[in-house]
Amino acid sequence: IAVACRSCQWLHSCLTYQLITSYDRNHNLFNLYEYILVEKRGENQDVGYIQLNRPKALNALCDGLMLELGKALDAFEADGTVGAIVLTGSDRAFAAGADIKEMQNRTFQECYAGNFLAHWNRVSTTRKPVIAAVNGFALGGGCELAMMCDIIFAGEKAQFGQPEILLGTIPGAGGTQRLTRAVGKSLAMEMVLTGDRITAQEAKQSAYELTLAEGNRLEKRLFHSTFATEDRKEGMTAFVEKRKANFKDQ
Ligand code: CAA
Repeated sequence: IAVACRSCQWLHSCLTYQLITSYDRNHNLFNLYEYILVEKRGENQDVGYIQLNRPKALNALCDGLMLELGKALDAFEADGTVGAIVLTGSDRAFAAGADIKEMQNRTFQECYAGNFLAHWNRVSTTRKPVIAAVNGFALGGGCELAMMCDIIFAGEKAQFGQPEILLGTIPGAGGTQRLTRAVGKSLAMEMVLTGDRITAQEAKQSAYELTLAEGNRLEKRLFHSTFATEDRKEGMTAFVEKRKANFKDQ
């Protein structure tokens, strides 16, 4: 039975992969994804368009969504007719961060051994230009996802923030590194240490450039280590239970 189940799963994943990378007669990708909408747009159908589509969770970036995003990027990268990719959300939320409900009960061992969030990097390794079209909340992993793109095109309602501190953790997908390079060390530290948000205008005024290096690796390890603290668990549990966190510095 175990062998049969495994081969069923294998067959299922092959079929799913073929289906989600299929094109219709107009060369549009079929929208068979659960968490994203994918199509080709533009006069010449040469823009790969990906819209995050978990409205009830403000596009929180669950594992399933990030896996689908990776597959859509793979398909557009392999498609010679696509010149650039647009990644967007809704008016209310680009993305409100990594999925806190999914992370709530993770342990340090799981995060460290599984290199939690490592696959998120797919966006920054895409070889075609990726443009983030951001409106509404771009918080935590959502802000990090936008910063992984080559260009951020922000609407008037865009709000950028790294509120992980309010959950007892730190940014884990490049926030401490890319934000520093985007808005400068002082504002980046203020945002990461307070969880306060900035508008598109404020972000633009603070634009800053430095180089990116080892910092991301160090950050990932520190992010994982917050999963060894009681405060991180309390912060995420309080969010899910809709109450104020009772941090104990432990
Ligand atoms: N994960 C899971 N669910 C989330 C979520 C998240 N990051 N953000 C919002 N949601 C869910 C809420 O739980 C709620 O679902 P229910 O209706 O089932 O309760 C729904 O989306 C709507 O959210 P709110 O009712 O909270 O909406 P609001 O307008 O009152 O507040 C908000 C909006 C200020 C964005 C608030 O939802 C919020 O603070 N979200 C969390 C933001 C955050 O902390 N992000 C960082 C996550 S950690 C991270 O990203 C780590 C990393 O570096 C990778």
